[in-house]
Amino acid sequence: MNYRHGYHAGNFPDVMKHAVLVMLLERLKQKPQPFSVIDTHAGAGLYDLTADMAQRGGEFRHGIVRVLERSGAPAELAPYLDLVRRRNPDVGARAYPGSPLLIRDSLRDDDRLQALELHPDDAALLRRSLGGDKRVSVHAGDGYLAMKALLPPTPRRGLVFVDPPFEVTDEFERIARAAAQGVKRWPTGQFAFWYPLKEPGTASGLLAELHMLGVEMLAVELWVQALETPGGLNGSGLALLNPPWQFDQLLERTMPWLSDALARGRGAGWRLVR
Ligand SMILES: C[S@@+](CC[C@H](N)C(=O)[O-])C[C@H]1O[C@@H](n2cnc3c(N)ncnc32)[C@H](O)[C@@H]1O
Repeated sequence: MNYRHGYHAGNFPDVMKHAVLVMLLERLKQKPQPFSVIDTHAGAGLYDLTADMAQRGGEFRHGIVRVLERSGAPAELAPYLDLVRRRNPDVGARAYPGSPLLIRDSLRDDDRLQALELHPDDAALLRRSLGGDKRVSVHAGDGYLAMKALLPPTPRRGLVFVDPPFEVTDEFERIARAAAQGVKRWPTGQFAFWYPLKEPGTASGLLAELHMLGVEMLAVELWVQALETPGGLNGSGLALLNPPWQFDQLLERTMPWLSDALARGRGAGWRLVR
């Protein structure tokens, strides 16, 4: 396990996945009934963007810095941007909240978060970031086991957020297996699976498998340069199962601004896959 999210915190995939995550949470909060969130690959929680790890590649400069500096964001992105700005009361971006902190900061009194992280150092950091909050449990372990051990959760409405590092070659297959298990155990739960876009069609096999699970599927993909650009991560995708009602319209209102803010080269764009 070499992956440490500290090197990548606040990069363009983080911005895209976290903007969508917070919009999903805002939708859950539109009903008074409490909800559960399970964050299967939670990372360390809070990232210091002035630290060596983040400074080395400087990925956040092409991610969160760009969106914080750009005006005219659609209103639906305000809750996400506010959560990030709350960690940066002075100008600029010195700290970045990862998914478990964005979720925790969105919970109401009766909502619950269970966060899993396999890397022992990051699990310890996460415990430190989230410790002492009775709405939150942190588990040091394999997030995919949550699909068996933690589903269905109590409260019984909510979201599973699955954001693996794609360090292993069979991560797409693992996601497909996890999705099938998850939907079987919690057919009414919402699921969000993150995936990288390196070239055209990277995720077409996964999306085809998700389509066959018998629940509604909606994927959103955003790429910052042409998908044919060799040698790296060109885009970021999030496949949603059981998305909220009319969530596609919300994405259509927000993705154009995000795409413009994050574009790095010719051929940037975004799309929905239904
Ligand atoms: C992309 S990062 C997560 C970032 C985090 N979700 C966020 O948005 O702030 C992926 C994380 O998954 C962890 N990880 C890798 N394999 C795992 C597994 N099987 N179960 C749980 N965590 C795992 C890595 O240590 C890493 O911290």
